[in-house]
Amino acid sequence: MTIPALLARQLDSALKQVLGENLPGDFHAEATPSQNLRFGDYQSNAAMVLAKPARMNPRALAQRTIDALGDSDLGTVEIAGPGFLNFRLHPETFAARISAMLDDERLGVEPADKPETIVIDFSAPNVAKPMHVGHIRSTIIGDALARVARFMGHHVITDNHIGDWGTQFGMILWGWKHLLDHSRLEADPIDELLCVYKKVNDLCRKDESLLPECRAELVKLQRGDSENLSIWKQCIAVTKRGLEKIYGQLDIHFDYWMGESAYNDALAPLVQDLISRGIARESDGAICVFSDGFHRPEEDPFLVQENGEWKPLPCIIRKADGGFLYATTDLATLDYRTNVWKADSIWYVVGISQEQHFRQIFDVERMRGVSGDFRHVGFGSILGKDRRPFKTRSGDTVSLQDVLDEAVSRAKKVIEEKSPDMPDAEKETVAQAVGIGAVKFAELSQNRLTDYVFDWDKMLSLTGDTAPYLQNSHVRIRSIFRKLGSAPREFSREIHLRENAEIHLARMLVRFAEVVPAVLDDCRPNILAAYLFDLARAFHSFYEACPVLRSEGSVRESRLSLCELTSRVLSRGMNLLGIHPTERM
Ligand code: ARG
Repeated sequence: MTIPALLARQLDSALKQVLGENLPGDFHAEATPSQNLRFGDYQSNAAMVLAKPARMNPRALAQRTIDALGDSDLGTVEIAGPGFLNFRLHPETFAARISAMLDDERLGVEPADKPETIVIDFSAPNVAKPMHVGHIRSTIIGDALARVARFMGHHVITDNHIGDWGTQFGMILWGWKHLLDHSRLEADPIDELLCVYKKVNDLCRKDESLLPECRAELVKLQRGDSENLSIWKQCIAVTKRGLEKIYGQLDIHFDYWMGESAYNDALAPLVQDLISRGIARESDGAICVFSDGFHRPEEDPFLVQENGEWKPLPCIIRKADGGFLYATTDLATLDYRTNVWKADSIWYVVGISQEQHFRQIFDVERMRGVSGDFRHVGFGSILGKDRRPFKTRSGDTVSLQDVLDEAVSRAKKVIEEKSPDMPDAEKETVAQAVGIGAVKFAELSQNRLTDYVFDWDKMLSLTGDTAPYLQNSHVRIRSIFRKLGSAPREFSREIHLRENAEIHLARMLVRFAEVVPAVLDDCRPNILAAYLFDLARAFHSFYEACPVLRSEGSVRESRLSLCELTSRVLSRGMNLLGIHPTERM
């Protein structure tokens, strides 16, 4: 059990003693890390919350709680301000945990009490359209969540729900037949398909008669025309090949690629079912789901406010011409995931512009009686340094591959400067790890809901809140052990914590067990990213204040153990974010 969980449990039983019947049955105390170490390690506001209903003075209740807590072997507790309880832990408490962590593969992180089947829907680019920086956020956040959830013992299914059945195929099919450059398709499939799509788009704008031709190609595809089906299949195959290459470079892998087209046959019966159950109905020829009045208007995803009035905002699931929509496919996809994969939770890592869509989908599920932990894990946009949407100089969207290439080549320069003597092959591997790590960390260290500015210099800096800083910290620790020689070491479990910097490093190490599970509460990898940065800083302060190799005896052994554990936590933490630690840099 983590330290704050232990403190909370002790508090619960002390409060029970003091308040007896007056303690609300559903109350559970919480201990949270103190913002400022002057107030100790953890803090609880339980006495303040409970004082009023118990008709007591908060400080008096706090004092009686402290009396009931008695002497604890974890640390001391005191009252602060209007009735906060501040807990200050004994260095021995940290030391004991550090010893235990040294023997624990999981570094103190307990697996989830109730393992769940969690489907994570992320990346999901569209065929014949490039994977641009907007998809970067989904891809990187989704992968980090998958890694953390797996580590927590959940059964995770990652699914790349690619857009492989859209209206864009009308143009693509026409372009394929009239404009395709087969040798370019071989060389760079994603790029050539995009090029074809753009050309046809331009032509359509100039010549209006082309659009119906494209539409006719789409209708032929939808009716199962064998030539068009075969072209469509080739488009998907070459796109997948191109994407696999990028995912490989990112070390991101999917269990399934169930694109939109996988659900085509399920759409008509789904709409029929919703009609027969009275959830959907006809409106101007289309089939729609309207509000059922379950929510207050402010929370109802099927209503919008216009000029002070609530107007219906239906979810259309079949157009008047019989065509199905994005929403229809998502409802069918959700069915499949809950019925076939038995998903308890489904997390959609998709930009916040699609918030309304997901609120409607989840609410239709409520109407159908389907329950689960369905989350739209939204995120904001990536901005350029001018704080406008991130674009290339020519104004195009930036392709993900270009971002990765640039990151790696910039990382290479950093390594050239830092370690000119490194063998070339190693330089290449390290540049990949550092460049890609930098892009990932820049993403993951942000609050996902806010827009962030893409800044090469900042993300590759060796001193800031960056992946290279973490990787460099790890490298520094590994080099301490290289100096000691290569013989495998036994790490001492006898931990001595005397210096403040030493105690603080231990405090941070122990916190790993609290931070990792917290990432999943609200799908926020930035909690882990911020923690790793703080840990690395704590290590640097420790390393400045406390000689390691130049100290002696049991102090030296204890400090080496702290170094070892820091490198393990950094390495594991980086791995959970999809960032590769390196031995040298
Ligand atoms: N292909 C979509 C896009 O690029 C994202 C799909 C997200 N997943 C989903 N189940 N709707 O916007």
